[in-house]
Amino acid sequence: MMEHRSLASAVRDVLPYRKPKLGRDYWVKDDVLPNALEVYERNLARGDWMQGAPWRPEVWPGIRAPHALTPRELAPVERWICEQTGVRALKQEAPTQGALSHNHVQLVGETESTAKPHVDSLALCDFAAVIYLHPQPPRKHVGTSFFRLRLPGGGLGGNTCPPGCVNLPQAFGVTKLPANAWVQDVEVENVFNRLLVYRADIVHSATDYFGRGDNRNKRATALFFWKAVR
Ligand SMILES: [Fe+2]
Repeated sequence: MMEHRSLASAVRDVLPYRKPKLGRDYWVKDDVLPNALEVYERNLARGDWMQGAPWRPEVWPGIRAPHALTPRELAPVERWICEQTGVRALKQEAPTQGALSHNHVQLVGETESTAKPHVDSLALCDFAAVIYLHPQPPRKHVGTSFFRLRLPGGGLGGNTCPPGCVNLPQAFGVTKLPANAWVQDVEVENVFNRLLVYRADIVHSATDYFGRGDNRNKRATALFFWKAVR
């Protein structure tokens, strides 16, 4: 039974590796929103938060809420991404189960989660993006990182979900991979009003979370997931 394979022996050299390259695999645009502070304050003030981990058994950490950006705010962001990635348009795939939390605002404190390298569901998206919304992150290394596999012998493996697989557990034939199976490869810093777009099939995670107590202290982002219309 595949689910019964031990976590350690699941780590096999099955992922292709391609060094994430700016302008090919990921894209960064600073000062992306003309009204980023307004977007941040508007979202902080809302009362319709959904709880994720650790309060509920979900992969989503912290709290989140839909419609982070208005259609008018999102349209120029999507236009820029289309230009950069060379796709005709971006759309949402209607999920048959689960939800992608596209255009959600997410607040995650330092005690609520840690880096969890993964790929986004390739059945549902080709590109993912984050806009960092905390005006003054209190420390470095709280943005987003790309990772590659740490092989059992100590060598380095790949970072890309193989064609034909929709996620990493499927690629490895397990339900869960050990969290220490990954090595940070490329890091993008958390800068207020920075947009980071990346190919959803590259292993990635929040580098780390920060803040406790008031929501205003916590790592705040807007998250997006798109299928490409080519
Ligand atoms: Fe992701």
